[in-house]
Amino acid sequence: MLSGIFLIPRQVYAAMSVASAADIAAGRHLAFSRKAGNCIACHQIKGAVMAGDIAQPLQPPFPDRNRLFAQIWDARQNYGSNTIMPPYGANHLLTRKQIHQIMDFLYSLK
Ligand code: HEC
Repeated sequence: MLSGIFLIPRQVYAAMSVASAADIAAGRHLAFSRKAGNCIACHQIKGAVMAGDIAQPLQPPFPDRNRLFAQIWDARQNYGSNTIMPPYGANHLLTRKQIHQIMDFLYSLK
């Protein structure tokens, strides 16, 4: 039987310490829920049923954390005032923490 010290590769450990499983699960729920982020109204995401295809599927590679945050906080920062993506942060639809949880979920997608 294995016991004692397990060596965890440094990148894996770093990834685990940044995004917890609980944050990823919360982010998935927010992205899929019709009462919360409802990203799947417009975007396909792996594992989503009956997702819309108004915008591109959300799949890797994703933009860097700053650009992704800006996109969800207020897509007008990246795409100007004609975007139809709701300004989730600017309009208080999602909190900063919830946006980070959605990002943690998206970055966990393979
Ligand atoms: C009403 C439709 C709609 C909803 C709902 C929506 N989006 Fe979008 N999204 C878009 C459109 C359209 C684009 C194309 C770029 C643009 O116009 O902003 C986009 C682009 C994106 C991009 C690509 C940005 C880039 O620069 O590569 C990401 C990531 C994204 N959305 C994430 C999300 C997340 C996360 C949610 C849920 C919190 C969400 N979207 C909800 C319409 C939507």
